[in-house]
Amino acid sequence: MDTVLSGIRSTGNLHLGNYFGAVKNFVKMQHENRCFFFVADYHSLTTHPTPENLHNNIRVVLSEYLAAGLDPEVATIYIQSDVPEIPELYLLLNMNAYVGELERTTTFKDKIRKQPENINAGLLTYPVLMCADIIIHNADKVPVGKDQEQNLEMARRFARRFNHMYGVEYFTMPEPYNFGSELVKVPGLDGTGKMGKSEGNGIYLSDEPKMIRKKVMRAVTDTGPQEPNSPMSEPVANLFYLLELLSTPDTVEHFRASYNDCTIRYGDLKKQLAEEMITFTTPIRERIQEIYNDTAYLGKVVKMGAEKARESASKTVREVREIIGYKPF
Ligand code: TRP
Repeated sequence: MDTVLSGIRSTGNLHLGNYFGAVKNFVKMQHENRCFFFVADYHSLTTHPTPENLHNNIRVVLSEYLAAGLDPEVATIYIQSDVPEIPELYLLLNMNAYVGELERTTTFKDKIRKQPENINAGLLTYPVLMCADIIIHNADKVPVGKDQEQNLEMARRFARRFNHMYGVEYFTMPEPYNFGSELVKVPGLDGTGKMGKSEGNGIYLSDEPKMIRKKVMRAVTDTGPQEPNSPMSEPVANLFYLLELLSTPDTVEHFRASYNDCTIRYGDLKKQLAEEMITFTTPIRERIQEIYNDTAYLGKVVKMGAEKARESASKTVREVREIIGYKPF
């Protein structure tokens, strides 16, 4: 059984791209693996040192992942800042991480370009904290997007270095995991590329029906098929792709046929797509609300998660301290 671990940004509202991309796979994987999912609320301080909505953001993120199907009885779901063993391991790993290699990390270079007024040490050592997150549970697989692959490579490097420095085979090398053929890439509504937060082209699980209709009706299309059976432009193919994801084969077939004989009205296609999205997201949105308002339940989830995470983390830190040479008198 593999140990799978993923860190969740504390400000990331889930859109349909996240849902069909990673989250659906998490929900499935949690039954076949030893899974850890945590809200990376320390990492968020590297960009937002005095976060206004920290607590509420965590609450939103937790509610969304729980509503989407992560099961706190099955997986270990916790908040990074509830596990003091993580900063302890981070401190120890920092002693064997070099400023030069950290300065060369792409995410660091990106961040200092974006926030030249706040080039803090936490930003520099971001990959070290991420490494601590991962190896504290000896994770085998870490589902990450392209933008995080280098950070994962750094995590492997620090883990390998630790083993080498102390002459042990203690840490496993965490591998990036992209869900293989299970990965569904969801396009956005702006014609090209995939659905993403920064692109502003997404439908969020928490979007109200009115908002969904508005966004979908504004989606990019083209001037329509000029002759029967013409190939589809990317924006239109994307709308069909989304429809396929959410609708019945009959409905998809109906619109395909009307595209192929040039009778399609994109307005109808969009209306259908919006309604399918609303049907799909409504129960999840209601569940998010329910969980969000249930302080007692959230408290229970978080407490249980912290306990399970600390059990595994404290064992690692105890062993690491011994390996380095800290011993009780
Ligand atoms: N850096 C990740 C992101 O921005 C979040 C993260 C923090 C993470 N720690 C992690 C991801 C450990 C995977 C493993 O999305």
